[in-house]
Amino acid sequence: MISPLFDVRDVTLRFGGVVSLNKVNLHQSRGEILAIIGPNGAGKTSLFNSLTGVYAPQEGAIVFTNSRGKAISIIGKKPFRVSAAGVARTFQASRMFNAMTTFENVKIGAESHRGLGVVGAMFKGPGTRRDEHRSDIRTKELLEFVGLTQQANAIASTLNYGARRRLEIARGLATAPDVLLLDEPAAGTNPTEKLELVELIRKVRDEMGVSILLIEHDMKLVMSLAERLYVLNFGSVIAEGTPAEIRSNPSVIEAYLGSVDTGVAQEARDA
Ligand SMILES: Nc1ncnc2c1ncn2[C@@H]1O[C@H](COP(=O)(O)OP(=O)(O)O)[C@@H](O)[C@H]1O
Ligand SMILES: [Mg+2]
Repeated sequence: MISPLFDVRDVTLRFGGVVSLNKVNLHQSRGEILAIIGPNGAGKTSLFNSLTGVYAPQEGAIVFTNSRGKAISIIGKKPFRVSAAGVARTFQASRMFNAMTTFENVKIGAESHRGLGVVGAMFKGPGTRRDEHRSDIRTKELLEFVGLTQQANAIASTLNYGARRRLEIARGLATAPDVLLLDEPAAGTNPTEKLELVELIRKVRDEMGVSILLIEHDMKLVMSLAERLYVLNFGSVIAEGTPAEIRSNPSVIEAYLGSVDTGVAQEARDA
């Protein structure tokens, strides 16, 4: 049976005179790997920010259904509440704690999940030994899962791009989410690292049962990973469908050709 995860209905988000999202409708089912693509400035990050409580759209509704089947209205909720409800994300520009080790970065995620919040987790007083132990175990499991056990004690700023992207995913998973939102998860990585990321993201869904929503510019990657895609252009959804449908959609090709990002149109056809 198909159960709902995200339901975005007629969402409009404005900044002064700029319409970032224009009556956006989007649906994600539980367990789906869904992607959002579109030229620069199309509204992709604005949509992520709206889904995670960072922005509050002026119109429309965003409903998230958690694993117990409870429908939760997102608009107006604070980001930490949305995160506690089961929505985790990574950021376009990496926001890791660069001076900390790989292990510490993930452990902070695991502790913030226990209700301390990220700041609380960083400056906590003596926690109970059992809590501490539980976070350590969870952190070790997650590092193993993303393939960073060898780099557990490396300072985060010394990791290569592929390892950084995997660390961000581990940190997102530390809060035990229902869905993981990935904003350009392959940014800065080389072809080998890209393949490893595709495998890892699929493994997150298949083995952890975490749904995936991703924004990605690399057409080959997104077309091989996503089961369904939405295309945004100037804040509006201009197409929705499977990779094969999107690749051959004339308005999608036109949107990319009309943008500065012309290389992407070629990639979309080649992918
Ligand atoms: N905080 C903000 N304040 C003002 N304008 C914003 C803000 N966030 C996004 N925008 C505008 O919304 C539009 C969509 O931006 P964005 O969501 O970042 O696009 P994308 O991620 O697809 O490149 C752009 O015109 C951008 O300038
Ligand atoms: Mg963006």
